Amino acid sequence: MSTPLEISGNTSVCGVIGDPVEHTVSPAMHNAAFSALGLDFVYLPFRVAKKDLSDAVQGMRALNIRGLNITIPHKVKVMPLLDEIEAQARAIGAVNVIVNDGGRLKGYNTDAEGFLRTLKEQGVAVRGKTAVILGAGGAARAVSWALAEAGAALIILNRTPGKAVELAGDIARAAGHPAEALQLNAKNLVTALERGHILVNTTSVGMSPETGETLVKRDMIKPRHIVVDIVYNPVKTRLLQEAEKAGAGTVNGLHMLVWQGALAFEKWTGRQAPVEIMHKEALRAFGGK
Ligand code: ATR
Repeated sequence: MSTPLEISGNTSVCGVIGDPVEHTVSPAMHNAAFSALGLDFVYLPFRVAKKDLSDAVQGMRALNIRGLNITIPHKVKVMPLLDEIEAQARAIGAVNVIVNDGGRLKGYNTDAEGFLRTLKEQGVAVRGKTAVILGAGGAARAVSWALAEAGAALIILNRTPGKAVELAGDIARAAGHPAEALQLNAKNLVTALERGHILVNTTSVGMSPETGETLVKRDMIKPRHIVVDIVYNPVKTRLLQEAEKAGAGTVNGLHMLVWQGALAFEKWTGRQAPVEIMHKEALRAFGGK
């Protein structure tokens, strides 16, 4: 494990609250970044059950914790507990970062911007393209919002079609952008991919331990597609393996994890995040898988 700087009476505390948090790589990633910049900060994991969320947020104030990442299952429920929510996070309907300024808590969403930075870094053009999104949960909301803002048309497919309809409606209203909703099945997926350029899996399908699972068959994927999986455990999911074999471009979920973390780091510290170090450390924490 990476060693944080020596902890003093002045050390600023950051962390992540979620349930579970046992497998998080965020402490490794952030503590390496604090060390690299010589910052007197430390980052800790806090397992917080749903029933304790309100106490935990009060505790952040009482203990003067500088910053928190919010992860499953708290990203939506945390919103009414905060003093202020940035406009983008409000439009998305989820908060993944809190900054504590002297007891005043402000919520942000860095998943959306982190997703866009990832695409930019990987050289994926978005404007004028059609993006096919699998899933309509919290992660899909951030990804859809980001893609719509960046000028993509959206086709959202979800197992429960009503949620896709709701998300598409929200996007069309908030971003003023066309978004279609379909039930997630093989027929609709083939039709959507015929029109789509970018495919993003925002569902948990393929995540460890179900690493053999994928929603998309290899023959549906064409070399002109860019396939993005936001699942990062394993780093190369079954979907990405199939996409590679089909000759498509691929982007793994670790990039988005690192970028959402880097943007949070910048909000807490006011310093530019050492993104390469964070990426290397996140990969190392996964055992280089
Ligand atoms: P997150 O915040 O990670 O997006 P979530 O809000 O629980 O988590 O959303 C999970 C998404 O993955 C949902 O779109 C869910 O589909 P439903 O709305 O039909 O539940 C999708 N999902 C999860 N398991 C799935 C599976 N086996 N097949 C298809 N979709 C699945």
